[in-house]
Amino acid sequence: MKEILSLDHVSYTYESVEGESRKAVDDVCFTVWEGEWIAIVGHNGSGKSTLAKLMIGLLFPEAGKLSVFLEELNTENLWDIRSRIGMVFQNPDNQFVGSTVQDDVAFALENNGVPFEQMVPRVHDSLAQVNMEEFLDHEPHHLSGDKNSGWLLQVHLQCVPSF
Ligand SMILES: Nc1ncnc2c1ncn2[C@@H]1O[C@H](COP(=O)(O)OP(=O)(O)OP(=O)(O)O)[C@@H](O)[C@H]1O
Ligand SMILES: [Mg+2]
Repeated sequence: MKEILSLDHVSYTYESVEGESRKAVDDVCFTVWEGEWIAIVGHNGSGKSTLAKLMIGLLFPEAGKLSVFLEELNTENLWDIRSRIGMVFQNPDNQFVGSTVQDDVAFALENNGVPFEQMVPRVHDSLAQVNMEEFLDHEPHHLSGDKNSGWLLQVHLQCVPSF
């Protein structure tokens, strides 16, 4: 099994302009292997979002080591690694860019330089995989919560080269 993500004694502290500090992630270690589905649960303010931001390099650990696809995440490899991972935010409505579901999936492919003739079948195939082919021409804002999360996940899967 391939290692996808690993955190080795990762810590992160927010520093406010007033000089106050708040430790949000404290000495966290875990590994995620290919094919695993992992849920991180915890009470409000326990550091879940901070952990997610560390995983995609919106923040960098103050201590410890965070590796994605066996490479330690840094400012040099950040964009390459980000092209292989995706994030569905708490409120999917904030992530829509296209006027229809298929436009939005195609937008992700276009950003990754996929030629037009490959886009059409990929959009159809990927939406079929999440049972959403019938929603191709629907407006994203009018989908129910579970549908728009599923479809956003699909947008991200489209961006992953190994998909
Ligand atoms: N930008 C920030 N500046 C200072 N402190 C912050 C900042 N963002 C988060 N924190 C603090 O860091 C801690 C962890 O916050 P975080 O948002 O990671 O928690 P969470 O588990 O995602 O919470 P929630 O369940 O409410 O989404 C909290 O004490 C929070 O107040
Ligand atoms: Mg959060």
